[in-house]
Amino acid sequence: MSKGWTKSDWRSKPRVQMPDYPDQAALKAVEAQIAKYPPLVFAGEARRLKAHLSDVANGRAFLLQGGDCAESFAEFSADNIRDTFKVMLQMAIVLTWGAKVPVIKVGRMAGQFAKPRSAPTEVAGGVELPSYRGDIINGFDFTPEARVPDPNRMLQAYTQAAASLNLLRAFSTGGYADIHRVQSWISGFTDEEEAERYRDIATRISDAMDFMSAAGVTSETAHELASVEFYTSHEALLLEYEEALCRVDSTTGLPVAGSGHMIWIGDRTRQPDGAHVEFCRGVQNPIGLKCGPSTTAEDLKVLLNRLNPENEPGRLTLIARFGAGKVGDHLPRLIKVVHEEGANVVWSCDPMHGNTIKSSTGYKTRPFDSVLREVREFFAVHKAEGTIPGGVHFEMTGKDVTECTGGVRAVSDEDLSDRYHTACDPRLNASQSLELAFLVAEELLDRRAVKRAAAV
Ligand code: PEP
Ligand code: CO
Repeated sequence: MSKGWTKSDWRSKPRVQMPDYPDQAALKAVEAQIAKYPPLVFAGEARRLKAHLSDVANGRAFLLQGGDCAESFAEFSADNIRDTFKVMLQMAIVLTWGAKVPVIKVGRMAGQFAKPRSAPTEVAGGVELPSYRGDIINGFDFTPEARVPDPNRMLQAYTQAAASLNLLRAFSTGGYADIHRVQSWISGFTDEEEAERYRDIATRISDAMDFMSAAGVTSETAHELASVEFYTSHEALLLEYEEALCRVDSTTGLPVAGSGHMIWIGDRTRQPDGAHVEFCRGVQNPIGLKCGPSTTAEDLKVLLNRLNPENEPGRLTLIARFGAGKVGDHLPRLIKVVHEEGANVVWSCDPMHGNTIKSSTGYKTRPFDSVLREVREFFAVHKAEGTIPGGVHFEMTGKDVTECTGGVRAVSDEDLSDRYHTACDPRLNASQSLELAFLVAEELLDRRAVKRAAAV
């Protein structure tokens, strides 16, 4: 892979969406320090995730990727990590029930700090300041001091990511993730009156588990029921941080990003000759590539070859984010490119980033119905094309926030001001996330029906 590539080659390529640090000496010192720190994840783990994603590419597993739009220093707490982890586990069980294949769980966690922005500056009250670019770069407060890019923030981000991963690893194997606990949380949700329409599925899941226990398959006898594999991911936007955490895998001798298991390239930074593609092409981790309405067939063709020259299954996940009502205009033409190139990819659906609107009360929001509509369109296109809808990618939190409108516990435009805490884009709350999982599970059942019909 990528012979002759070095981790600093991106520096000679055009870069966008990255800060210009005024204090270059401080930047160099931080980079040198992080380069000496242990990596956050290990090459073998990234390879294992890649193998799971290769199952996703072939329809033998389903991908659930989710978490904050932007992790923040202020919202960092054990409770927040636990709650997001908890809702992802519930979603995963519901999706497993629908897909009847393992669900690969990947958090937008432990590294999701840097944000691309639509404009370099923001204006408020007649004052113009540089945009907030995520806690790893500058501060959220609307003051000239906070908005200066500060390289020392990378150290805090590293520390927070390390502590987050430590907790996630403990939750994954220490008993918290036991399937019986997770199932009882799901029942807690569907016992509520407004979630009644999902009760039938929850009952079937609990019946299946009762049957397994009766047959002697319990958490004590089957280790798989007592623990989970949980992976981390983030947008590889701040390349100084990524380079400083890049390591050589001692098993293969190949470079690996040590900042997270999977990294992705954003819709604004996917220029085929740009710095972000240059960095990502050289590391052996699974790579995500956001594909928005402006993704051209020519660019995608170049990117498929550049990011996955050996056409390794599981290496590349194309994350479609077109917006409700637009999937039919764009997904088929990109599926055609993938088909013509004979490329092995995972197709995942991000129904968040094409559906951001300003509410009547002035908040940035996403209507639950648009999110669901985009997911349904994604499934419908794959069904029509005979390709595999491999996964979903959500911005979500385990907290009871009011950032996206709709859902069974209907959040209205007026409610948005109650608990609007995101540092960037609006997230689905715990109830909306789980509800969406039920609705995606119904789509997945349909996918299985199609597969069965094809087999007859
Ligand atoms: C994101 O995932 O938070 C993001 C900025 O997405 P995109 O690059 O697709 O706009
Ligand atoms: Co976002």
